[in-house]
Amino acid sequence: MSTVVLPGSFDPFTLGHLDLTRRAVALGHRVIIAVTHNPSKQSLLSIDERTTAIERTLATEDLAAHAEVRTLPRGLLVDFCREVGAGAVVRGLRSQLDLAYEEPMVRMNHHLAGIETIFLLTDAAYAHISSSLVREVHSLGGDVSDLLPAASLDALRTHP
Ligand code: PNS
Repeated sequence: MSTVVLPGSFDPFTLGHLDLTRRAVALGHRVIIAVTHNPSKQSLLSIDERTTAIERTLATEDLAAHAEVRTLPRGLLVDFCREVGAGAVVRGLRSQLDLAYEEPMVRMNHHLAGIETIFLLTDAAYAHISSSLVREVHSLGGDVSDLLPAASLDALRTHP
């Protein structure tokens, strides 16, 4: 079983993220979900709220034997990958826009440490879901209950 890192802000962790986790596990990987602090993005949920929601989701979804959540508040992703013995990063692609966003990071991570990136094409059922849109819809009073695992929804609801 090889270890892969699924990094992201996860603000909040969505059904799309959950699907990626399940699919990476189904490919035989041990998945470490790395909750990162992205200085260029202002977060709604605290790191603790995000990691707790992901932990609860992994337990509920019977994924805890193959996936775990870790905090990565500072530092390079490639250093974290080395620390946990991961040779690859997993990311989801919803569209070509995502690919354009990912490409320089993929190249930089490979340049820095030879870390590969495995892309999984987002299932069409989740291709419209992004954490930023979930936050926006929620903040404007919209219903996001069918876009998130229950634990993420609970966390979001503490931030009306
Ligand atoms: O879900 P996001 O916020 O789009 O994820 C972006 C993320 C976390 C993958 C990216 O910001 C990242 O890798 N951060 C870790 C810091 C780092 O290594 N930066 C250099 C990347 S080339």
